[in-house]
Amino acid sequence: MANLDERTRAWQERVERSLEQRPERKERFVNGSDIPIQRLYTPRDGVQTEEEYLEKLGFPGEYPYTRGIQPTMYRGRHWTMRQYAGFGSAEQTNQRFRYLLEQGQTGLSTAFDLPTQIGYDADHPMARGEVGKVGVSISSLADMQTLLQGIPLDRVSTSMTINAPASILLAMYLVVAEQQGVPWDKVSGTIQNDILKEYAARGTYIFPPKPSMRLITDIFEFCSKEVPHWNTISISGYHIREAGSTAVQEVAFTLSNAIAYVQAAIDKGLEVDEFAPRLSFFFNAHNDFFEEIAKFRAARRMWAKIMRDRFGAKSPRAQQLRFHTQTAGSTLTAQQPDNNVVRVTVQAMAAILGGTQSLHTNARDEALALPTEESARLALRTQQILAYESGLTDTVDPLGGSYYVEALTDAIEEAAWKYINYIDQLGGAVAAIEQGYIQQEIRRAAYDTQMAIERGDQVVVGVNRFTVEQERQPELLRVDPNIGRVQAERLAKLRAERAQEPVREALADLRAAAEGTANLMPKIIQAVRVYATLGEICDTLRQVFGEYRPAVF
Ligand code: 3HC
Repeated sequence: MANLDERTRAWQERVERSLEQRPERKERFVNGSDIPIQRLYTPRDGVQTEEEYLEKLGFPGEYPYTRGIQPTMYRGRHWTMRQYAGFGSAEQTNQRFRYLLEQGQTGLSTAFDLPTQIGYDADHPMARGEVGKVGVSISSLADMQTLLQGIPLDRVSTSMTINAPASILLAMYLVVAEQQGVPWDKVSGTIQNDILKEYAARGTYIFPPKPSMRLITDIFEFCSKEVPHWNTISISGYHIREAGSTAVQEVAFTLSNAIAYVQAAIDKGLEVDEFAPRLSFFFNAHNDFFEEIAKFRAARRMWAKIMRDRFGAKSPRAQQLRFHTQTAGSTLTAQQPDNNVVRVTVQAMAAILGGTQSLHTNARDEALALPTEESARLALRTQQILAYESGLTDTVDPLGGSYYVEALTDAIEEAAWKYINYIDQLGGAVAAIEQGYIQQEIRRAAYDTQMAIERGDQVVVGVNRFTVEQERQPELLRVDPNIGRVQAERLAKLRAERAQEPVREALADLRAAAEGTANLMPKIIQAVRVYATLGEICDTLRQVFGEYRPAVF
């Protein structure tokens, strides 16, 4: 009986003969990270021995977690179906939250408008035209009370996509929990709180790096004592990828940022096994199905090694990379929007086969506007069909052991380490960002992709191939243009009716604390309690910390 090498040679001869008849579609097959893709993967690729299996893969729920962080994964519990939602006023978003929970979603995810994200009240001149537009407008505790009306904070976990003013929105959330009678050790959720990717890719920053890192690690310290089930940061690769990075860069730049956060917390005197279990991550699920699955598996294995070997973390939870995934907004097309349902399904399958803990599926109309109720429901139904009808969740890590997936997981890990080691040489992620290195790498990758699409080498169905002339415009969500005026009137009333002295005192205390080194969370909570607004609190901190002014690269 011919052995594997003999059979491989025989196959290669058949390939040569076939190529004479029919050349392959492309000269060279590479994926978006420029990793060559072999014509075929065999037992000579990926994991070949028991020792390699035990070292590189092991079992789900054990180091290095390549196959998943839980021993039983989705057989024990599906990922959280957590649809990003928020627009207009707190009332409107509260209605959408309740609707999605009624439709079966299992976690909340809050989108804030840009004024809220960069620390301006709804009536600030800088907010004009943006209030309630890309997310919900939250300027005070009163808005947060309305946003969370009727939502049991001891039973629902809430993510808040907020970065520069994360401490203030967290403070508002905790005060609402207190008012609901929910002890803080029963509250669960996540704040994104990841300022480094804002400097590098997304842009909603306020303060310079040093004070920003202080605010972030103050939250780590405060929550590890007072809010033990709160995930204190969602270290994001999503936006880095949306800005045009490759999958390898997404992993490498995200983990480099994570290394900077862990180091900053350790420098502050925090114990890695205490704060690290509540670090979480947020990745993109892009189009290349196998590259995405391999990307998630490589990221998990790398993080386990970083936490154990670089930071000496001993607790399994400190070594586990727990992440949320959002399907890639940048792949949605305005043309033939129904096609987006197919894209999102393929991307969601990659996230599930990659072992995500929480998932947002984009809606088909999101290249055109915020999702209508109907398209948001279809996006959620996509997850429910994959969870309950597809069989994907009946065994752990079904693609584990695949010659291709394991070889690709190794290749992505190897390429990502090269970036991380180089960023270390530059002085770490903060230094790399200040030197513009990460931004330039992302821009270069984004340019290459755009050129490939414009040349037609990279097909975007409905855009550069398989187009149609006339299309019916779908019904779109319209945010009430008066929302800015309504919010401004509400704020004027709140400022007039609140007790002024407690606000003045709280802001003065916060300013004094910001000028010192104490943890700022207690002072921020007190300011929120007496209805100091988001803008007033941020302005107090601006007076002490100044504002970040990026160098132009
Ligand atoms: N066996 C045993 N226990 C299990 C289990 C299993 N199979 N599966 C889950 N569990 C347990 C978990 O251990 C956990 O218990 P714990 O709290 O005691 O640890 C509990 O069940 C809940 O499971 P997870 O923690 O895995 O799921 P969550 O959904 O609660 O948390 C997360 C997931 C990734 C850790 C968290 O950080 C999260 O929810 N992140 C979401 C972030 C998000 O939504 N971001 C949106 C950003 S939108 C944006 O920025 C894009 C815009 O800019 C365009």
